[in-house]
Amino acid sequence: MRMTVIGTGYLGATHAACMAELGHEVLGVDVDQRKIDSLQKGEVPFYEPGLPEVLERNLEAGRLAFTTDYQEAADFANVHFIGVGTPQQRGSYAADTRYVEAVIEDLVPKLKGEHLILGKSTVPVGTAAALQQKADELAPEGTSVEIAWNPEFLREGYAVKDTITPDRIVLGVRGEDSAAEAVAREVYATPLSNDTPFIVTDLQTAELVKVSANAFLATKISFINAVSEVCEIVGADVTQLADAIGHDDRIGRKFLGAGLGFGGGCLPKDIRAFMARAGEVGADQALTFLREVDAINMRRRQRVIDLSREVLGSLIGKRVTVLGAAFKPNSDDVRDSPALAVAGQLSLAGASVRVYDPQGMDNARKVFPTLDYASSLEDALRGAELVILATEWDEFKTMDPEWAAGLVEGKVLIDGRNVLPVAAWQSAGWELHALGRSL
Ligand code: UGA
Repeated sequence: MRMTVIGTGYLGATHAACMAELGHEVLGVDVDQRKIDSLQKGEVPFYEPGLPEVLERNLEAGRLAFTTDYQEAADFANVHFIGVGTPQQRGSYAADTRYVEAVIEDLVPKLKGEHLILGKSTVPVGTAAALQQKADELAPEGTSVEIAWNPEFLREGYAVKDTITPDRIVLGVRGEDSAAEAVAREVYATPLSNDTPFIVTDLQTAELVKVSANAFLATKISFINAVSEVCEIVGADVTQLADAIGHDDRIGRKFLGAGLGFGGGCLPKDIRAFMARAGEVGADQALTFLREVDAINMRRRQRVIDLSREVLGSLIGKRVTVLGAAFKPNSDDVRDSPALAVAGQLSLAGASVRVYDPQGMDNARKVFPTLDYASSLEDALRGAELVILATEWDEFKTMDPEWAAGLVEGKVLIDGRNVLPVAAWQSAGWELHALGRSL
């Protein structure tokens, strides 16, 4: 099948490459010439394990190409995916849908014949219907354009696997006359042949599925982090508690990782946009708890600052090493990163902060150019009076405590992700602190 993927950020670049991997002929489209040039050369402009290989393989096979030309996209295929961003609006909680709208405005007037546009971007409920109206207005005489919604659930760090073997496929269609299901069955023939659950529903349900999934995940993390606050006061252990409740398969252990909380380009923005949209449609009370989910999450960052101050006495002039800058391991994404927020706040509070991350350094430097960036883990640890593990990269989790002890000035560490083997670190002479448990 031929298809275009419009927007070649995290979501779009991955989707384009993976659709080609499934055997389709794909044209990736973006307004950013630099992004397109780099993808066309086989270079992924962000860190995503496995994606460079998929990109290269499919470019070479001639199934994948990239362009900035919307006319080329309009002529190339009758199926178009939208994967552009919907960031948080400045000065508001709502999502900014201007880039999704711009795709319709730029593409639809150039289309001829019958076309299907499948939205993948995370959008406020009601967006797809509004885009359909816009498309109907902009479609040239004799051209018909259908908008359907096909939300994406990929996780950064596992983007290729999540796209090629998704755990479900959701498709929102406008009604009985929709051609979208038949097309989607062809697009996703490979995963569907492996019994991937396929949920076909209306547009508004599909839009809500996506934000509900992310809101649920955020709520689960904040739930355990709220319990963690209580554990800290009464001397209980949140990790054992999470193990114990996680054995109940109605609850499950996943996403009960207590610590510094969630960040990234999705969960924080999506819960805020969901709240904003609920208010707009008149369900003012329905999602106010998400405000609390957000607040609990933010308090965890502050807790690490407070704990650092407690441990060091004062932060002024103290050499603190923050391990991690990316919002999670296996990613170079620093958007709303808890690790970088902690590093930045410690620096503003007077500490002398060194940061090290296996992949996120370039992006971190752009956001916080004033921090001191180490060239390696060893370089980061040398002379530190306090070490904070803020992102649970394997390199940090498997670090030898004896080796690390030989580098630092003070053997004091805050495990902000509850991932280090406590006994081994303590027996190497380290004073260990963690969130939600007293060690
Ligand atoms: C999230 C969702 O998991 C995806 O399903 C969704 O497609 C994506 O957003 C999106 O909307 O595009 P992602 O942002 O890549 O994916 O990251 P997650 O793996 O969900 O982690 C989010 C944050 O939660 C990270 O900062 C992570 O450190 C934190 N987290 C996760 C915890 O603090 N504790 C946990 O137990 C799990």
